[in-house]
Amino acid sequence: MAGLIPKSFIHDLLERADVVEVVDSRVPLKKAGRNYQACCPFHNEKSPSFTVAPDKQFYHCFGCGEHGNAIDFLMKFDGLEFPEAIEELAHMMGLEVPRETTADPAADAKKRAQESSDYEQMERAAKFFAHQLRRHENSAAVIDYLKGRGLSGEIVKQFQIGYAPDAWDGLLSALAKDQRSKDQLVDLKLINRNEQGRYYDFFRDRVMFPIRDRRGRVVGFGGRILDGDGPKYLNSPETRIFHKGRELYGFYEARQANRELEQVVIVEGYMDVVALAQAGISYAVASLGTATTTDQLQMLFRATRRVVCCYDGDRAGRDAAWRALENALPLLNDGVELSFLFLPDGEDPDTLVRKIGADEFRKRLDKAQSFTDYFFAHLTDTIDVNSDSGKSLLLKQAKPLIERVGSEFYRDTLMERLARLLRREASQLAAQIKAPATQKAPQDSLKMTPMRRAIGLLVQHPQLGREIPLHSELSALKQPGIQLLLKLHEQTQAQELTSAQLLELWRGEPEEKPLRQLARWQHHLDSEKVTQEFFDIFAYFIDQFVEQRANELLEKERTAPLNKVEKQEYLTLLQYLKDRGKR
Ligand code: UTP
Ligand code: MN
Repeated sequence: MAGLIPKSFIHDLLERADVVEVVDSRVPLKKAGRNYQACCPFHNEKSPSFTVAPDKQFYHCFGCGEHGNAIDFLMKFDGLEFPEAIEELAHMMGLEVPRETTADPAADAKKRAQESSDYEQMERAAKFFAHQLRRHENSAAVIDYLKGRGLSGEIVKQFQIGYAPDAWDGLLSALAKDQRSKDQLVDLKLINRNEQGRYYDFFRDRVMFPIRDRRGRVVGFGGRILDGDGPKYLNSPETRIFHKGRELYGFYEARQANRELEQVVIVEGYMDVVALAQAGISYAVASLGTATTTDQLQMLFRATRRVVCCYDGDRAGRDAAWRALENALPLLNDGVELSFLFLPDGEDPDTLVRKIGADEFRKRLDKAQSFTDYFFAHLTDTIDVNSDSGKSLLLKQAKPLIERVGSEFYRDTLMERLARLLRREASQLAAQIKAPATQKAPQDSLKMTPMRRAIGLLVQHPQLGREIPLHSELSALKQPGIQLLLKLHEQTQAQELTSAQLLELWRGEPEEKPLRQLARWQHHLDSEKVTQEFFDIFAYFIDQFVEQRANELLEKERTAPLNKVEKQEYLTLLQYLKDRGKR
């Protein structure tokens, strides 16, 4: 990766960004008292339990427990990695992300420059192909072909479909200005170099489909042959910016076309995606000639709750569907839905939607086979569940699969169905089938100790840190969590922070998780009581510390007499404890 993003920049970014605006740009919010509300974009619900607090710069869903700051929101909603979310947020604010110089700043800078130049070059290539579709001498024939496949100019433009000319040096002469750009185009697999050292276009005489990543950057191409010999589709091989298992053709376009994605349909081909969009079904994506991976499914489930796998009914299609199901098992959470639609023999989504129309196609999507139905239909396809050996085989095959399912709801549903098939009690099976080991702690499982209360209050109201002087002597207090509290106190005293900024300082640290939990804890205190409560807990710790120290001195005196300073200290401590008794 390029150099680290300086923490100070992230701090400033959270200072300038408003989580309300960030969330509102994706999920329209309504004002509700001091906060803002919406139906949670991360789980299915009818009444809004998703709340955004402008003072804390935090969002939290009381339904599913999703929570975080503007950066977390972009990670979760846009399906971005941490640095990408920073980039996106900076972009929204019109800022450039600086990078900290690491061990090798020159190499870092070079890599970054390389990356952005790669994306620029890919974009130029896409523009070149799109331009050729309009200008090339074969253009009429190619446009006829696309029209013959039912595509309008508008859809062609939306997907930036292009044409790679029938030449060895089309893109080469347009984009390869010097040796450096030649090398780069070879790296990006847009041109090839033969043994004689001659360069030539990778894609020739093909209809070109640019593949965009989730941020809309062109990372690769698929090229369809018009006629003649050769593979029907030629795809960009993997490059330093193109990883097939992580991208989905049409995902960016689907998000552009829909404010909110109610569902996404996974199909097998580029043409299927485009033809469905042409018919008005603008939410289809295709994996790139490989099985649908867990990464890809995760990207989808971050953007939508319902995914329909739409495959051919033939052997290959069914294999692809089953592999998608296996890869989806760990992602099945309450509130997400995965279903399967198998097409009639000889049809693909492109031909079928043109035959039956979009409305009928949508109806079929709605009636797609549920995850559970398909799960057992597939497993029992070749097993006779009426025989004892069939029953034991089914259990053997289903068990490890069910054990990978993340959601309790889905696991229970599968278990109940399995019990019925095996003619056994579900409770009996439950003892045999384990839940996957998750780290997810139940939401309000933290026992509320004074330490946790103090930390929770400070995280939720960082301004408290400025109302009490630092008590560094408390670091000797024998209480778990005291170091964390004191560190938080230092941080909140050193500068004015929102909860979001404070938590950001702890991202990636072992303390991050408990801090996030405490940030969500409901203290049920009126705002004016918060300060008092915080004072009181601090006073309690100071008392405890005084007692602890007095006991230590007392303990010491048993073995050797106290010196003068220690005696004085002991007396002061006793006086303090006596005064406290009067308070
Ligand atoms: P299909 O052969 O089903 O293509 O391959 P299609 O999308 O229906 O294309 P049309 O309708 O004939 O134009 C489905 C997908 O498999 C990959 C491509 O990603 C294609 O979209 N594929 C297929 C290849 O990579 N290479 C091939 O030679 C064929
Ligand atoms: Mn097809």
